[in-house]
Amino acid sequence: MTSTAVAHPNIALVKYWGKRDDALILPDTGSLSLTLDVFPTTTSVTVDDALTADEMVFDGAVATGSPAARITTFLDLVRAQAGRSARARVDTRNSVPTGAGLASSASGFAALAVAAADAYGLDLAEKDLSRLARRGSGSACRSIIGGTAIWHAGLDDATSYAEHVSGPDLGMVIAVVDATAKAVSSREAMQRTKSTSPYASGWVHAAEADLLLMQQAFAADDVSTIGAVTESNALRMHAAIMGCRPPIRYLAPQSIALFDAAERLRRTGLEAYATADAGPNVVFVCRAADVDAVRDALIADEAAGMPADRLIAAHAGPGAH
Ligand code: DP6
Repeated sequence: MTSTAVAHPNIALVKYWGKRDDALILPDTGSLSLTLDVFPTTTSVTVDDALTADEMVFDGAVATGSPAARITTFLDLVRAQAGRSARARVDTRNSVPTGAGLASSASGFAALAVAAADAYGLDLAEKDLSRLARRGSGSACRSIIGGTAIWHAGLDDATSYAEHVSGPDLGMVIAVVDATAKAVSSREAMQRTKSTSPYASGWVHAAEADLLLMQQAFAADDVSTIGAVTESNALRMHAAIMGCRPPIRYLAPQSIALFDAAERLRRTGLEAYATADAGPNVVFVCRAADVDAVRDALIADEAAGMPADRLIAAHAGPGAH
């Protein structure tokens, strides 16, 4: 039996950066994000009793080594829940540049969780799909949910999941500064931040406070505060990362120039705020109705240095299905 699922990446407004349990992927803090309507990942899982090992195909090429091992570890979780041992064939197609800091692991594990759960006969509620996706990659638990989602840090495996959070209709403009894979994975960088950055504990306290502020701003439909907290939260995360030894710096000179561009846009009355994940790409957050105006303004802003084909307009997208 083959099950196919589609999931989209999400971009956090309050970031997840740090685990208190590496095996269960329980985060140090809660986070809040927008699931987008661009760059879907489509994954098919076929359970086949004749297979002696799982088979993985990523974008048409057979996967081996640690990416494949991570999938098998994940499928083992699904098999344990389903009480089955049959191996599976996984075929996944990504339309987001893998490893470029555009959250491909989020859409990847969200799609895999939904497809694998169905293929193995598990009938999971949204909350349990979110918990399952979390075990593949923390941020994937938020891509189970459409639109804006809050991932509750929770107390344990049962209470750490994402759910919908109501607020203003937001959109994003993704500035693709560099679409090649990053040198240090977010998983490794997260661990290094915790073990070597003197700012790690400061980050955790700040992120907790930012999440509360963000929830209040969502409830109040206050886009200015949502944006201001988003921008500051991202820079705080990057500050903690830059404090690692040996250091890790994801932001490129052009990334910084794009944070400056957000400030220039705001001076013209256009409410746009910048954020960046574990890579040099910058994502602008704004009201959904302003997405085209923000994109046009960035194209027109010469100092931003972004050609139109590297500025991608995005809106709230569906949860994994
Ligand atoms: C910077 O979810 O990729 O995008 O749980 O180790 O797989 P693992 O990490 P991952 O980290 C995402 C980090 C981030 C921030 C965020 O999406 O909240």
